[in-house]
Amino acid sequence: MAQLWGGRFTKETDKNVYLFNASINFDKRLYKQDIEGSIAHATMLSRQGIISEEEKDSIVKGLNDIRNELENGTLEITEEYEDIHSFVEAKLTERIGDAGKKLHTGRSRNDQVALDMKLYIRNAVDETDSRVKELQGALLKIMEDNLDTYMPGFTHMQKAQPVTLAHHTGAYFEMFIRDRSRLSDIRKRMNTCPLGSGALAGTTYPLDRDFTAEFLGFDAPTGNSMDSVSDRDYIIEYLDALSIIMMHLSRFCEEIICWNSNEYRFVEIDDGFSTGSSIMPQKKNPDIAELVRGKTGRVYGALMGMLTTMKGIPLAYNKDLQEDKEGVFDAIDTVSECLEMFTGMVVTMKFRRDVMEESAKKGFTNATDAADYLVRKGMPFRDAHSVIGRLVLECIDKDKSIEEMSLEELKEISSMFDEDIYEAVSMKTCVERRLTKGAPGHKVMEEAVEAYKKYLAG
Ligand code: ARG
Repeated sequence: MAQLWGGRFTKETDKNVYLFNASINFDKRLYKQDIEGSIAHATMLSRQGIISEEEKDSIVKGLNDIRNELENGTLEITEEYEDIHSFVEAKLTERIGDAGKKLHTGRSRNDQVALDMKLYIRNAVDETDSRVKELQGALLKIMEDNLDTYMPGFTHMQKAQPVTLAHHTGAYFEMFIRDRSRLSDIRKRMNTCPLGSGALAGTTYPLDRDFTAEFLGFDAPTGNSMDSVSDRDYIIEYLDALSIIMMHLSRFCEEIICWNSNEYRFVEIDDGFSTGSSIMPQKKNPDIAELVRGKTGRVYGALMGMLTTMKGIPLAYNKDLQEDKEGVFDAIDTVSECLEMFTGMVVTMKFRRDVMEESAKKGFTNATDAADYLVRKGMPFRDAHSVIGRLVLECIDKDKSIEEMSLEELKEISSMFDEDIYEAVSMKTCVERRLTKGAPGHKVMEEAVEAYKKYLAG
């Protein structure tokens, strides 16, 4: 048991209490941020004349050595230390002696851990963003290849109107644009530096907080030391953004699972991204999509956990705040893995264009267009709606699609039908006529794809 605070105690901490209280098990992943923050702090202390230049040099060298050794595996983080801060300080003092003991001057673990978490989450926000961007690149490729791949668009899980695979994929592209803009908002809002807030009330040393903030790439120091050491809003916001990303992935997975089923057969997930059954030899299961859908739950859980942990914490630091770590670390790992797996799955997935188009034809997705045809011939829309309703009934009776009905059969329902009805209700016409901004028509969708390309390049 190696701890930083034995002085006022007359008795050792109970072993189980020590273990319950310790966080080294999970905060060891903050070693890089802890070292980076300490280098900034030591550099500032020497600039302010609080420690000497030589002491600073020896601290910085010692910290860099520790980081290098941790990275190349010659030094290991062991559990006899209470947390990562204690570990780094102990190792430093072991190596450089008294100068190491001066590093913590004007600092508390409260502002130290607040800084470490901010640095860690800021980096994680950037990593999430680049993974989502990578997925967007894969989706853009699908769009470019499928501007004329007709498929049914659904409402209430019922075939509604024809769209294209490019258009359907574009809906997800838009969701991921919003996700990335959320991440960028969070990054901007969180980018203030808590270092120099001390335990809660600042310090009597003449610290230069502007210097450390800039040194660590922050826009400014935080404005209130009590808030600084107990603010975890940015973790909640990040978990919220991660939850929404998972919700989007999960919706997409749900569709892919349907599309990959024997009933739809719209897609075939690559063998490399499917699994088999131990008993049913014919099975090829969409496990990856199901797992991504399932893992959404634990990310939502992390968000709920963090919100709940924060709700009763009085100012300023309380040990509850140590609970800010495991949930968000798990969420970061989960989302990162899900984005990677999901992207790999869609990149290798085969789309059965013929089945999609056939399905669009079979489901009366052109019924609205047939009604619009009659409207163009002069019939009021309400009447046209009812005429086509009767036509659909008759088609169902005869097990035919609208375009499979003969002109005589059509004329029996309305004399306004002519030879040009067939062209008017073809999948191509139905989609191509939809040229409002944001619609699936080839021309507007092509423009959208161009805009997405610029967005990804920008
Ligand atoms: N392990 C602690 C945490 O993660 C570090 C801060 C400890 N500060 C304290 N006053 N006990 O929150």
